[in-house]
Amino acid sequence: MRFYANFKMHHTRASTTEYIAKLNEELTSIECDDITIFPPATALQKSLGKVVVGAQNGYFEAKGAYTGEIGLTQLEEFGIDTILIGHSERREIFGESQEFIAKKYAYYKEQGFHIVYCIGEPLTVREQGEEALFEYLYAQFEGIDIEYEKLTVAYEPIWAIGTGVSATVEDIELVHNRLKEKFALPLLYGGSVKIDSIEQIAKIKSVDGVLVGSASLDAKGFATLIKRGLGV
Ligand code: PGA
Repeated sequence: MRFYANFKMHHTRASTTEYIAKLNEELTSIECDDITIFPPATALQKSLGKVVVGAQNGYFEAKGAYTGEIGLTQLEEFGIDTILIGHSERREIFGESQEFIAKKYAYYKEQGFHIVYCIGEPLTVREQGEEALFEYLYAQFEGIDIEYEKLTVAYEPIWAIGTGVSATVEDIELVHNRLKEKFALPLLYGGSVKIDSIEQIAKIKSVDGVLVGSASLDAKGFATLIKRGLGV
């Protein structure tokens, strides 16, 4: 089971450093080597102990005239080699098109990064039924090399993100099972994963891990979620 924490625009450099120390302390006796946190760019730092540090975003150049962006050079300073690409907040709020996302993907693949690639549908699409749902989700793989060996896909239905309402086991199985038939890829679920829902979600066969937003922000809380997910 993999446990990934997306801090979004929460935490500072100082609080992220404290967080990493606390999470390692809480997980001392736990066997799990797949824990990654994605702090904001200003809080990027080296991975430590059981906690891998990844980037929420990166531009598809090493450096250059791209105001407000960070690229490979900035990530390399901290030994970062894991990146989130395609998160619905980047797609929706920052208007990242599939074409733009595919360029980022190709670049970080070329650099040998572990890529956590996010897909997910809005409620209006989900309500149109299965055919519309899968058409929408498959379109989010346009230009994406799904044969890449360091690719992990995160299915995050937009209607479940930050709403406190996770998708049901049936909702998750419907998408995960179908995706697993199509691609042999590690698959995370994300969208309001909480301490109270992790046990149920972790039991789903086609779920290889979770991408957690709000319930990951407190180190002790995230440690509890990890322990429950592992059943220890
Ligand atoms: P959430 O966020 O757990 O707060 O719903 C998940 C995500 O957007 O990755």
